[in-house]
Amino acid sequence: MSYSLTIEHCDSSIIISSEETVLFALLQHGIIFPYACQNGVCGTCKCKLIKGRVNLDIYSDEALTAAEFQQGLILACRARLLSDATISKLDYQNV
Ligand code: FES
Repeated sequence: MSYSLTIEHCDSSIIISSEETVLFALLQHGIIFPYACQNGVCGTCKCKLIKGRVNLDIYSDEALTAAEFQQGLILACRARLLSDATISKLDYQNV
């Protein structure tokens, strides 16, 4: 299954498979996005899910706290789309 992902801060939209992570798809499409471990450990790829639903693979609570998740934050390297979605970088991220 494929879904549309809109990246608000760079005004782009891409079509990605539900099988691939958001970060993998962003990088495949040449969209610059902050990341490091690609493994749900560092939190560098943390971003805001503005619209839509995702499934998150296993990640460290230190990378994304329960409170952050409740506020709509996700880890791009752990997220797989369950619907069309919109994300945005966080204010402190310089991309
Ligand atoms: S790149 Fe480290 S948690 Fe996503």
